[in-house]
Amino acid sequence: MATVTSSAQIRQTFLDFFTKNGHTPIASSSIIPANDPTLMFVNAGMVPFKELFTGREKRSYTRACSSQKCVRVSGKHNDLENVGRTARHHTFFEMLGNFSFGDYFKEDAISFAWELFTRVLDLPADRMMVTIFGGGDGIPADDEARAIWRKVTGYGDDRIVGLGMADNFWQMGETGPCGPNSEIYFYHGDNPDPSKLTDEPSPDGTGWVELWNLVFMQFERSLENGVAKLCPLPKPCIDTGSGLERVAGALQGKKSNYDTDLLRPLVEQASAIAGKAYGGSMSEDDVSMRVIADHARAAAFLIAEGVLPDRTGREYVLRRIMRRAIRHGHRLGITRPFLHEVALSVVDMMGEHFGELRQRRGLIATITEQEEVRFRQTIDRGLGMLDEEFARMKSANSSTLSGETAFKLYDTFGFPIDLTDVICQEKGLAVDLAGYDRALEQVRAKSEFVSSSAATPQVYREALSKLASKEVRFIGYEREVSE
Ligand code: SER
Repeated sequence: MATVTSSAQIRQTFLDFFTKNGHTPIASSSIIPANDPTLMFVNAGMVPFKELFTGREKRSYTRACSSQKCVRVSGKHNDLENVGRTARHHTFFEMLGNFSFGDYFKEDAISFAWELFTRVLDLPADRMMVTIFGGGDGIPADDEARAIWRKVTGYGDDRIVGLGMADNFWQMGETGPCGPNSEIYFYHGDNPDPSKLTDEPSPDGTGWVELWNLVFMQFERSLENGVAKLCPLPKPCIDTGSGLERVAGALQGKKSNYDTDLLRPLVEQASAIAGKAYGGSMSEDDVSMRVIADHARAAAFLIAEGVLPDRTGREYVLRRIMRRAIRHGHRLGITRPFLHEVALSVVDMMGEHFGELRQRRGLIATITEQEEVRFRQTIDRGLGMLDEEFARMKSANSSTLSGETAFKLYDTFGFPIDLTDVICQEKGLAVDLAGYDRALEQVRAKSEFVSSSAATPQVYREALSKLASKEVRFIGYEREVSE
């Protein structure tokens, strides 16, 4: 039986294990990438170390480990719409990782991972399997990794499965360091069958789930006259990433991340505030409670980093996340501001490891509550406008709300299209969604990534300055990667 089960213990055990093995533990860097205009949010543990992999930067260590705060709601990794509807999609999550910058390579990376999982954390080998790069695009299969996995795990080839470029070849971008990767999968449910590996478990979480991705950076990809060229890196590197929520799920015997100690208390709180029991199902109510739990975490962490809700860039993303949570609360029949209460629970649950949450507790409460008060007014105004529109449609004998009206509701009142759609459905009316999309497309530029602190509404600036003079210190957007 596993002795390490709480998420705090898992995080610490991971960091201690790699520290004992010569790695320098690095505090999670800010979710706001330092000096990286290509990314809106840090979305993997390796991001703060990018320049070390390319060799452009050197530090005093060649081995590091971290539990990095990640947000995946924009760009290539955008999980927003799946949140609450699957067992393990999140906007905010923690990625455990160990890194070698030209130090050890495949053999040690694989041995470390297997020792930690099977001997330290006691995960059962008969519920796991691994994948390797099976070859593709003229790059040979990673036979070296297969041989090491065989030796280290004792698995036969049925549990070491080769997959192609899309699954098991990792690259930072079009050019730069890249290489094959290996993933460790865990099975939730009865009768693990390696021949049924798929990365899409059933909604309740039954099936194989990837727990750890080991990237073996061994090539440098360059473009010569538009033709990609792969050269071996003189000093190959290791980048691994393992979702804390998923490892907690495996060790706590929970198929759904939302049932782990990282999220379940927040789900329960949403349920208590709504006065509705949580059933862990795919019912709309249960989905809403999970959305609230997830989004409260993202909101608390983003605000703790100085992001304030606004109309563009990451500030807009924060607003969208908060408004989604509030809307789901509204759906559940919650008639008063509540999100700040859930966000404060995030502070209580995670503030010990992430001190910035405790430090900005007051700011987190104020911003989430003010946003909710404002958005609830918006919802009321939007409902008023919709009622007038329904009356007009009735006299015109129309059963479809025009795309322009739906867009105006969104653009002027911040009234989300899915809410408009739900309300119309309840009245047996349709929405011209294609018309809405056309109108939205015309102003899409608005939501493009522009980080604009200058446009932050006065009301938040005031809240911030009041709080800043008391218990909160605003650290701005330029926070460096902590070492
Ligand atoms: N960069 C890889 C990932 O995001 C491994 O950390 O999965």
